[in-house]
Amino acid sequence: MKAAVVFYSYDGNSAFAAEQIGLLLKADLLQIQPVKERRALKFWKIIVGVGQVMFNKKPALKPYSFNSSDYDLIILGTPVWAGSPAPAIKSFLSQEKLSGKKLALFACHAGGPGDVMQKLKAELKDNTIVSEIDFLNPASEQEKAKQKIEEWVKTLTQ
Ligand SMILES: Cc1cc2nc3c(=O)[nH]c(=O)nc-3n(C[C@H](O)[C@H](O)[C@H](O)COP(=O)(O)O)c2cc1C
Repeated sequence: MKAAVVFYSYDGNSAFAAEQIGLLLKADLLQIQPVKERRALKFWKIIVGVGQVMFNKKPALKPYSFNSSDYDLIILGTPVWAGSPAPAIKSFLSQEKLSGKKLALFACHAGGPGDVMQKLKAELKDNTIVSEIDFLNPASEQEKAKQKIEEWVKTLTQ
C-alpha cells in the first residue's frame, strides 16, 4: 500500500504526528505551507488564526509536488483552529482533486477536537474515510502519543 501523509502544522504537533505515521507506514510526507505565514505569539497567534477561520480564509500555498493518483491511502492531518481545520488545509482541499480517494484523518488540539472531523468530512463527500483520530498536543507528550499513533496505524494496515 502506497500512502502519503499530507499535513499542516503551525507549532509542530501535527508535524510530530505526521512524521511518526510516515515512519510506521513508510509513507511520503507533504507539509503544506501558506506563502505568507504570520508568526505570532501566544494570544496574538490565536486571534490571527481564529480570524482567518471566521472569515473562511484559504491562504495561497507554497508550491508543492503531489499527485493523489500515486497513492492508495492519503492521511490528512490538521491542527484544530476554532473547532475547524486550519485554513491551509481548506486551501489544499479546494485546490486538489481528491475525489474517490481513500482517506484517513487526524487532528491535533489543545483541549478537544470540536467538530473538526464533521467539517473536514463535509469537504470530502466524494471520498472514503477509512479512519479518523485526534491527538492532544502530541509533541508535548511524545511517548504517550507515539503509542496511540502506533495503535492507530496498525488499524490502517489491517
Ligand atoms: C489559531 C489557533 C486556534 C486554536 N483553536 C483551538 C480549538 O478550537 N480547540 C483546541 O482544542 N485547540 C485549539 N488550538 C490549539 C491547537 O489546535 C493545538 O495546540 C494543536 O496541537 C496545534 O497543532 P500544530 O502544533 O500542528 O500547529 C488552536 C491553536 C491556534 C494557533
